[in-house]
Amino acid sequence: MENGIANAIVDEYLTLVDDSCVALLPHALRIAAEFGLADLLTGGPMDVEVLARSVDADVGALYRLLRALASVGFFEEVTPRVFALSALGRRLCSEGPDSVRESVLQSDSYHAWAAAPEAFRRGTPVPLSSGPHGGGQDFFAHKDVDASAGRSFTRRMRERAASCYAGVVSIVDWSRSTVVLDVGGGDGFLLSAILRHEPRLTGVLFDRPSVIASVAGRLGELGERLRTVSGDFFRELPDGADTHVMSSVLHDWPDEQVDTILERSRTALAPGGRLLIVEMVVSPGDTWHPSKWSDLGMLVLTGGRERTGPEFEDRLNKAGYTVSAIRPIPGSYFTLIDAEPR
Ligand SMILES: C[S@@+](CC[C@H](N)C(=O)[O-])C[C@H]1O[C@@H](n2cnc3c(N)ncnc32)[C@H](O)[C@@H]1O
Repeated sequence: MENGIANAIVDEYLTLVDDSCVALLPHALRIAAEFGLADLLTGGPMDVEVLARSVDADVGALYRLLRALASVGFFEEVTPRVFALSALGRRLCSEGPDSVRESVLQSDSYHAWAAAPEAFRRGTPVPLSSGPHGGGQDFFAHKDVDASAGRSFTRRMRERAASCYAGVVSIVDWSRSTVVLDVGGGDGFLLSAILRHEPRLTGVLFDRPSVIASVAGRLGELGERLRTVSGDFFRELPDGADTHVMSSVLHDWPDEQVDTILERSRTALAPGGRLLIVEMVVSPGDTWHPSKWSDLGMLVLTGGRERTGPEFEDRLNKAGYTVSAIRPIPGSYFTLIDAEPR
């Protein structure tokens, strides 16, 4: 987005920030997503009475919610008190290539931002009695004990980065790779795309035990070409891979932990190998870029941060890597950083 457009949107926001649509839309969408209204309406239009019974809501309140969301194009009141799903509303469905349901729900963010002023005083996330975590290790440990929060986080990650995966697959020269290790690879979406594109490669999906347990059996289509390994990237990474991929992993952590992850990678990487990092890179100056906002999200959620190009180079140099290229990933706000061992 151009700076001018961003400024115009913010100007409008300040004008409409009372109890208008602009201020309340995130809350209204969150309720619609939590109730699963879009999924219910995929079968066709429904009377609000029936919808209210299905989601256990007050019928009058639900009507007012749907009417408001219909006024901005998410639903359509096709006959009085009967609502249909619009193309925009489809994006609230739980499945679909451009689904944003988990991003709208964002229960972690919701709790973290409610306590955010204190996080900005401290410079680190606040442990929340009502919420899931106190940043960093706690953030992920909570996902181990709450399976539903874990699945929701993994889906949210997919929504956040899905736009960049095709670009990653297409701009990398995979001819010099044999085994690809996806470090903190989540549900294996990116690694599967790489292996489907390059039938010669084999892959190792590495993540925390609870994530690997949740994806086991769902990656079968690639057979023995895709192995899963669970573990802790602060301790050790599996060796034998000549290409390490880290997509949206380093931004979760402060510098000290990033240094440890990169050192583990450097140690495990096969001779002649390389590291490919997929992250947003903070742009210089006052230009608008989502990284500057994602950075605040990291501050209050995990204690991590988004980084500038030179900041990535510093961290990589410290771990024994040299940056060989920093390239925009087509069709996305993400950047690919290629690094080679020194
Ligand atoms: C922000 S998500 C990124 C997921 C995926 N790479 C993507 O691009 O969407 C970070 C991933 O790091 C994993 N992770 C966090 N701590 C870890 C640890 N100590 N060891 C291994 N994986 C870890 C999380 O489970 C999660 O899947």
